[in-house]
Parts: sequence; structure tokens; C-alpha cells
Amino acid sequence: GRLGAMADGSWYDADIDHVIISEAQIREKTAELAKQVAADHAHVEDGLLLVCVLKGAVMFMADFARALGRHGPPAELEFMAVSSYGQGTTSSGVVRILKDLDRDIAGRHVIVVEDIVDSGLTLSWLLRYLESRSAASVEVVALFRKPDAVKVPVPVKYVGFDIPTEFVVGYGLDFDERYRELPYVGVLKPEVYARS
Ligand code: XMP
Ligand code: MG
Repeated sequence: GRLGAMADGSWYDADIDHVIISEAQIREKTAELAKQVAADHAHVEDGLLLVCVLKGAVMFMADFARALGRHGPPAELEFMAVSSYGQGTTSSGVVRILKDLDRDIAGRHVIVVEDIVDSGLTLSWLLRYLESRSAASVEVVALFRKPDAVKVPVPVKYVGFDIPTEFVVGYGLDFDERYRELPYVGVLKPEVYARS
């Protein structure tokens, strides 16, 4: 049904078929993940280096970094932009760097902050890249994981939610660059795809 049809409802809510993960669930899980990462890295002396892959992970990066700040070692925030050649709803595994890291990561403890792991192709490329830059360690925190991700040998140490193989939007995830600002994650109504 139509969500948030009131005056303060989001313009986008009418396009959402159903919510998969609510704003409150994301908030709770993010705090949980941050506590785990903080506990596991209490010993890291030069702090953690968080690497966010734009644009999808931007909301999670912002919230995760703040949650980590309450418990954890200091963190530096780094951003990369990559293009996985091709548009639409699937990833090809061929990756091109659009924006590289701003600093040397040699000897640093790196946490890749990911929105969603689907085929795992983007992530496995990224892990190889970061390791080739001589990071001391590279671990992954992903807010969402889809079932196909279990087929690839990508070690995702921290996972927020396992979600179905449906295409989802919100909390950074887009369809055609829209819906990123939704505070929750949901599935679009079929007619939204038919419109575009
Ligand atoms: P792979 O297949 O390489 O894909 O693990 C990871 C990237 O694909 C995007 N992705 C999605 N984006 N809704 C989106 O808006 C989805 O349901 C979805 N599934 C995968 C995303 O950019 C992710 O980093
Ligand atoms: Mg996208």
C-alpha cells in the first residue's frame, strides 16, 4: 500500500512496494556491527582506515563511522569510486577506478565499508587491489548480503542482514540514481520499472 502519504511523507514512498529493512533495524544493526569491529580492533595502534566505495555505501559509511566513534579506535575515512562497466541491475566484474584512495595504505588496517554484496565480483576485485597496495589487513563490513554472495570466496567478516535476491533501493542504494535518500531499504513497485 501507499506509505507515508501524509504531509511529511517522502515523495518516493509511493513507489515502494514493501519495506525490507526499516530505519530502526538499520540503526540497531549498525551499532552492533560497530561494537564488534571496535572490540576486534581495540589493539590497533594507528587506528583504522575505513574505505567506502561510492556511491551506494555513503549512508552506511556515515552512520557506521559515527557508531564506531563511540566505541572504537580512531578511524580515517577514505572514499573510492569505481565503475563496474554497465548499467542496470547487474554487475559485470570488470572494474575501472574513477576515484582512487587519497593516501598510502601500506601497513594500515583497512576496513572496507560496503553497502551490499551480491555476486561479490566488485568486492573481490577491490580486495585484491587493496592487498596489492600492501595493507596490513583488509576486512569487510557489509550492511547487506544477497544469497549469490555465498558462491564466491569473498571473506566478508561482518554482515548486517541477509536479504533475498530481489533488487532493492534506499539507504544509499539506487535505481537509476534515485531513491538513495530513503532512510530504509525496500523493493520498488513493478510499474516503476515499466515507467523507465
Ligand atoms: P556485486 O555483484 O559485484 O555487486 O557483489 C555489488 C554492487 O552492486 C550493486 N547492487 C545493488 N544496487 N540495489 C542496488 O541499488 C541492489 O539490489 C543491488 N545489488 C547489487 C551495488 O552497487 C553493490 O555495491
Ligand atoms: Mg547502483
